[in-house]
Amino acid sequence: MKIGIDQMAFATTGKYIDLRELARVRGDEPDKYTIGIGQDRQAVVPPTQDIVTLGAAAADQLMTPTVRQRILTIIVATESGIDNSKASAIYIKHLLGLGDYVRTVELKEACYSATAGLQFARGLVAVNPQELVLVIAADIARYGLATPGEVTQGAGAVAMLVSQNPHVLAFEPTAVSLTKDVMDFWRPLYASEAMVDGKYSTNVYIDFFKQTLTRYQQLTGRQLADFAAVLFHLPFTKMGKKALAAVLGERTDATAQRLRTALAASQVYSRQVGNLYTGSLYLALMSYLQNGTAQPGDRLALFSYGSGAEGELYTGILQPDFKNSLSPVAETLANRQQVTISAYEDDFNQQLGMKSADISFDLTKDPAKFVLAGQQDHQRCYQKR
Ligand code: CAA
Repeated sequence: MKIGIDQMAFATTGKYIDLRELARVRGDEPDKYTIGIGQDRQAVVPPTQDIVTLGAAAADQLMTPTVRQRILTIIVATESGIDNSKASAIYIKHLLGLGDYVRTVELKEACYSATAGLQFARGLVAVNPQELVLVIAADIARYGLATPGEVTQGAGAVAMLVSQNPHVLAFEPTAVSLTKDVMDFWRPLYASEAMVDGKYSTNVYIDFFKQTLTRYQQLTGRQLADFAAVLFHLPFTKMGKKALAAVLGERTDATAQRLRTALAASQVYSRQVGNLYTGSLYLALMSYLQNGTAQPGDRLALFSYGSGAEGELYTGILQPDFKNSLSPVAETLANRQQVTISAYEDDFNQQLGMKSADISFDLTKDPAKFVLAGQQDHQRCYQKR
């Protein structure tokens, strides 16, 4: 039985900043941000948006009457959780209006956990082929104003349905996971911004990619030439370039050229949004499928990385109807509004405004379908318009 990703949808906030403008305000060379780091724009997060509203907005695009009936499990992968106990999947289930006979859970391992979610979903579908599993990767990447990580912030969610006979990508059996106790990036319970050893984290990422790829090749006998594309977790788009260069070197043969062209297609959307943490690899997949030369039957390799650290390399075969099974990401991005750097800084400082038992936000400033209205008696209040 084929099992894999059946449908995919993306959502982000309605606002962004231009990173050349941010560079000028921070006193940096704009080319450092757009060429050195490889980012052009970054999602700006108002206080009325969080992983629940973003996750609901992504998943809402996949809802048809049949889908609603067949979803038996919702897995939310995130490292920007809004509660230390209750799963964000429960809030999202409520906002989507799904029935109560559904399993809901939240997964965490930095940027990796959406891949774990897909693997777990695969197991659930293998046991019950009629089941649809909704896997949502939702995050807000937050490093702090005027920090080295600021240019690599971002926000958004990718929602995926996992099913038998999928329309996008059928998973192949071999998946190589690698875990080591590494302190490259983490966020203690008391911190609202990530702590990161930036340069070290890029080196660990590359090591994990090389190790998982080598093991995958040993286990399957396949080579890079067998892949139409290698898709990467993209904390910033230059990271994918560095990782691919680490295995291609100076090669100029047809395989090397194909993989470099595919990488460029996979980076288009990340350049516009920034890091989605758990969702970044899957936005890269959508970007490649909508901007590259992908063909049904192609074998794609996906490299998932979560600091701390865990890496996984797996492959899938592209299915005939993939083009009609993805939300229109370019349209979503074109509908955003640019804001000034000072407006972004105001939003950044207000974003975690849930510090008192009772608070209500001004909803007139956010036209999104799903919003965080505030908090009452320490309970978050969401609205669907
Ligand atoms: N024109 C063109 N390029 C320029 C330039 C200019 N005027 N000025 C500088 N550059 C280049 C530099 O040469 C450098 O390129 P290389 O990396 O290819 O050498 C690049 O711009 C970045 O410059 P710096 O190294 O000086 O950048 P920095 O010290 O400000 O930090 C960073 C960069 C480490 C990525 C930092 O933004 C950071 O810590 N980000 C968060 C951590 C992160 O994303 N790590 C990724 C791996 S971990 C992971 O993947 C999990 C996750 O999602 C976080």
